[in-house]
Amino acid sequence: MCQKCQIGILVFCLISGGIALENGLARTPPMGWLAWERFRCNTDCKNDPENCISENLFRTMADIVISEGYAAAGYEYINVDDCWLEKERDRFGQLVPDRQRFPRGMKALADYVHSKGLKFGIYEDFGNYTCAGYPGVLGYLRTDAETFASWDVDYVKLDGCYAHPSEMDRGYPEFGFYLNQTGRAMMYSCSWPVYQIYAGMQPNFTSIIEHCNLWRNFDDIQDSWASVESIIDYYGNNQDVIVANAGPGHWNDPDMLIIGNFGLSYEQSKTQMAIWAILAAPLLMSVDLRSIRPEYKAILQNKKIIAVDQDPLGIQGRRIYKHKGIEIWSRPITPLYQNYFSYAIAFLNRRTDGTPSDVAVTLKELGLTSPTGYRVEDLYEDVDYGVLSSQTKIKVKVNPSGVVILRADVQNDFKRRIPYYTTQRTIYNPLSQVFRIRNNGF
Ligand SMILES: *[C@@H]1O[C@H](CO)[C@@H](O)[C@H](O)[C@H]1NC(C)=O
Ligand SMILES: *[C@@H]1O[C@H](CO)[C@@H](O)[C@H](O)[C@H]1NC(C)=O
Ligand SMILES: *[C@@H]1O[C@H](CO)[C@@H](O)[C@H](O)[C@H]1NC(C)=O
Repeated sequence: MCQKCQIGILVFCLISGGIALENGLARTPPMGWLAWERFRCNTDCKNDPENCISENLFRTMADIVISEGYAAAGYEYINVDDCWLEKERDRFGQLVPDRQRFPRGMKALADYVHSKGLKFGIYEDFGNYTCAGYPGVLGYLRTDAETFASWDVDYVKLDGCYAHPSEMDRGYPEFGFYLNQTGRAMMYSCSWPVYQIYAGMQPNFTSIIEHCNLWRNFDDIQDSWASVESIIDYYGNNQDVIVANAGPGHWNDPDMLIIGNFGLSYEQSKTQMAIWAILAAPLLMSVDLRSIRPEYKAILQNKKIIAVDQDPLGIQGRRIYKHKGIEIWSRPITPLYQNYFSYAIAFLNRRTDGTPSDVAVTLKELGLTSPTGYRVEDLYEDVDYGVLSSQTKIKVKVNPSGVVILRADVQNDFKRRIPYYTTQRTIYNPLSQVFRIRNNGF
């Protein structure tokens, strides 16, 4: 079942390649740091200078993204969110950054970010005001697009507060047109579908794909497991509409990574990272990088999971199983061999009875049917299962609100399949708490 519809998605991607936004950006989901979830609209630099929305905060985060290895792991954008503006435009109708908190202006901040080899993102809103009440772009679409280009902005997130959702079908493409007209390639992040869904409208994803590099489908993420679960459920429950819209240049955005903050346990943090990778999600950390604990930093910098997220095919994964609190999510990835994909597979335990749950399944039941077999490895635990046939039953233990994520690479050489086995043998691996079945021949 899942093999068939996933091949269907690939065909869609190839066909849709011609009509997507062609600014050359976001060939894989964007990665970076975004202020909003962690730092909100804190404008009190007098009493809270370290945490207020100010050039100091963004410079500091850019420094740490480099010095602590995030850039080497792929994180690239330093993104400002709401509350960077003065409440009034200047007498020429131009946007003005807050004079106290951004005394050197946005061009200087962009220059600083660029001097580190990183890219700079900014926030605005399609309506009369931003969500926090600062001037929106309505009535100034062209001026503001030109202002952002003159500041060397690389990424624009356009929110949808104080706007009529019915005007977005025209307005978001129009702002995108002006971005394009500047001649500066700027990533375009839209909130267009989510506001239309809230208004009971059906978003025109054909048009959204054509005009946006990424877009929000659902609620803002909050600092809680309940929030992460609600997003996971939304993407699972609506996958038949959502999944096919993702591809190189155009992505669904389930919102920021909140790993390292206050609301998620270690297991839950691993789950967010794994599921976001399955979803081909933008990876935008919103966390205080000055004080993040090492185990959370390690999750954010897990190169194997990032590689799944950044897989060049750009096919978003799906929930392929859901029963009694256990879910299995699957994403087709490279390499391909003949008609067979490789896969990332995430086993998610939504149960709250406080003991790990066993999940046992054959690769074939997961839709992994190549006769050449698959090389399987665990992406959190350092365990390589070797090459397994599609008849192999894998058994994983998944912690409550936790995840086990595996990568299964299809083998391209028939001789390397597993022809030797007569009877199967189960081996217990205490490190990962995963049973594995291997062949007597090994
Ligand atoms: C503007 O759009 C055209 C047509 O899609 C595209 O070829 C070009 O690269 C775009 N330029 C920028 C700066 O986004
Ligand atoms: C934005 O402001 C204009 C002019 O005041 C007004 O006509 C329009 O209805 C406003 N839009 C929204 C969504 O409030
Ligand atoms: C959706 O957008 C596409 C591309 O812009 C357009 O051709 C089509 O007519 C739109 N569909 C609806 C139902 O408005």
